[in-house]
Amino acid sequence: MSSSSDFAIEIQKVQDSKISDVDFDNITFGNTFTDYMLVCDFKNGEWQKPIIKPYEPFLIDPSAKVFHYGQAIFEGMKAYKDEHDEVWLFRPDENFHRFNKSAVRMAMPEVPEVVFMEGLKTIIDLERNWVKSGLGNTLYIRPFMIAIGSGVIAQPSTQYRFMIILSPAKSYYSGAVKVVIADHYSRAANGGIGAAKAAGNYSAQFYPTKLANDKGFQQIIWTDDATHTKLEEAGTMNVFFRINDTLYTAPTSERILDGVTRKSIIALAKREGIDVQERSVLVDEIVAAAQNSTLKEIFGAGTAAVVSPIAAFSYQEIEYVLPVIEDSFASQLKDKLTKIQYKLAEDTFGWTV
Ligand code: COI
Repeated sequence: MSSSSDFAIEIQKVQDSKISDVDFDNITFGNTFTDYMLVCDFKNGEWQKPIIKPYEPFLIDPSAKVFHYGQAIFEGMKAYKDEHDEVWLFRPDENFHRFNKSAVRMAMPEVPEVVFMEGLKTIIDLERNWVKSGLGNTLYIRPFMIAIGSGVIAQPSTQYRFMIILSPAKSYYSGAVKVVIADHYSRAANGGIGAAKAAGNYSAQFYPTKLANDKGFQQIIWTDDATHTKLEEAGTMNVFFRINDTLYTAPTSERILDGVTRKSIIALAKREGIDVQERSVLVDEIVAAAQNSTLKEIFGAGTAAVVSPIAAFSYQEIEYVLPVIEDSFASQLKDKLTKIQYKLAEDTFGWTV
């Protein structure tokens, strides 16, 4: 594909849709996929024409770099249906730009904007029946890129596959989330890949998260790798802390993902007149605030997690339970955000597409 004027997406139609087999009321996150997938390969130094085809497994060489060196990145996005059956994306340009930043960091080719954006719009248009109306119903969108070039020499691949797959989704967490504050393992380090949405950032968390799960906690809030004193982000979401009436969240850095929901929550909170501070939050501050009852809320914010209140945290084996408060910032901000996403409130920010 040498220029955007060559752009066309071939669509290979499915024989029969799987949609009637899906129980949309009882869906668990990330297990059901729609009828189609978008595929666009990079080879001979350029992107080939994208194609939308029936969702199916595919073959790649066992020596492909994605298997051996984890050269893989992804994004998480959602489509929402409004009361008039129109389908909306939320800030897709943010995901596109972050995807290509991740690509650069992982020595992968940047995906052309036309492939990402038109690909997204075309496949979602084709799958619009899979986006169910009603608050909480979404179509989770997973754009990703893998290194498919063969050979176990440890250097970047010369061949890549960009894909978009779609999965109807409700909430990521089924109930209250309890978290452990990390005091040994680290998610990211300065100079590392923490700010990229690289597949390995997530698998590296599986083992410490499993240890936390075994103790009855769902997630870890990561701390800085050098001192383990500053709170950073959780495995699937950025984190906000409310002390008295001020909302704190860690500034983005080389170690922290620049979350789209995070930045939207900050903008919404500011618009509501909430004092929001992007600065390092210390573990000691949170522990002291929990002890003197000034810690009112902790919540996570992410595409999959939306806004997830945190019910309790544990630090060095001591558990601190958060109070249950009415009209929490988490519920107010989640309400404002989802009303924009589902077009139930005016989108003064121009976020919906
Ligand atoms: C998302 O919120 O979309 C993410 O990418 C997190 C993922 C691990 C579920």
